[in-house]
Amino acid sequence: MESTLNKTYKKVIEEAADFLPILGTDYVEMYVGNAKQAAHYYKTAFGFKDLAFSGLETGQKDRVSYVLQQGKIRLVLTAPLSPESEIWPHIQTHGDGVKVIALWVEDAVKSFNETVERGAAPYFEPRVEKDAHGEVVRAGIRTYGDTVHVFVERKNYQGVFLPGYKPHNSGFVPEDTGLLYIDHMVGNVDWGQMNTWCKFYAEVMGFAQLISFDDKDISTDYTALMSKVMSNGSGYIKFPINEPAKGKKKSQIEEYIDYYRGAGVQHIAVATNDIIHTVSQLRARGVEFLEVPDAYYNDLIERVGNIDEEIETLRKLRILVDRDDQGYLLQLFTKPVVDRPTVFIEIIQRKGATSFGKGNFKALFEAIEREQELRGTL
Ligand code: FE2
Repeated sequence: MESTLNKTYKKVIEEAADFLPILGTDYVEMYVGNAKQAAHYYKTAFGFKDLAFSGLETGQKDRVSYVLQQGKIRLVLTAPLSPESEIWPHIQTHGDGVKVIALWVEDAVKSFNETVERGAAPYFEPRVEKDAHGEVVRAGIRTYGDTVHVFVERKNYQGVFLPGYKPHNSGFVPEDTGLLYIDHMVGNVDWGQMNTWCKFYAEVMGFAQLISFDDKDISTDYTALMSKVMSNGSGYIKFPINEPAKGKKKSQIEEYIDYYRGAGVQHIAVATNDIIHTVSQLRARGVEFLEVPDAYYNDLIERVGNIDEEIETLRKLRILVDRDDQGYLLQLFTKPVVDRPTVFIEIIQRKGATSFGKGNFKALFEAIEREQELRGTL
């Protein structure tokens, strides 16, 4: 399979504008129906630990938030406390899903002004939040669907998470599973909207396009998609954007759009240095992964060449492998982690490869189609 890497990171970094330097992903916030129980799930199943809490006990009247951490990943689970809360209609429309992709920046006011000037719709104006541990400046802009980006400037803050949160430790501290940081986050957008949103990331956020796939690259008999990967200048932030393409039956991107009722985050890919350990742990704790056909492993070495891992171990854990001209990667996708067939998690270990597993898309799609068939949505 020929390489789909159109540009090297170096080229992307040169091309990406530097008006919006991003230091990393600050946090990901999901709006959920029951934050307490969701927090227990991500702790028990994925090995996150308690970090912070906000709710009635901290003076927050309309919502409750549990903040969990593993490696550099901060996951905020927020639920409404009253029917008047703005979180409620979000859950009613979308089900549990990702509301905020927060970006860690040096200067939140500048990030807001630069992006709004370039056409971003404001979500909230810059505000300074203070407590005894210092101050944080935050500001928000809208992206696809009801999803938003919040810029977080925390250089003058020493508290546990953000002002308004108190440290939290329920006493239940599960072992981590080796999750280190967010590798990429994928957005699904509606028919014909991929280029619009890639343009948004290019023109408004200064990102550059790293890779593109069309429906000829990624399709099975039944499902198809188009995808472009946008990256910021540092390469720390990578946002693939998918749109459905016509297949014989309903594309899984279309199924997502139907159930999420619009565009939204399809998956969060988290990096590990030892995918065999991570996936073994996750499986033992009840995380469900997409089923990969046994036949996938029969011609694996022919497709990807020599790799460090034992094929039989990968076969047992159903871990996928793909290669590009820079190396290879190992990855696996969970089943949706919410009730609707929408958001899922990817586990990824990179061994040189900087791409996203295009060679696995077909295997993945075939696996997803078997699940769609069970739900009667093909
Ligand atoms: Fe991915």
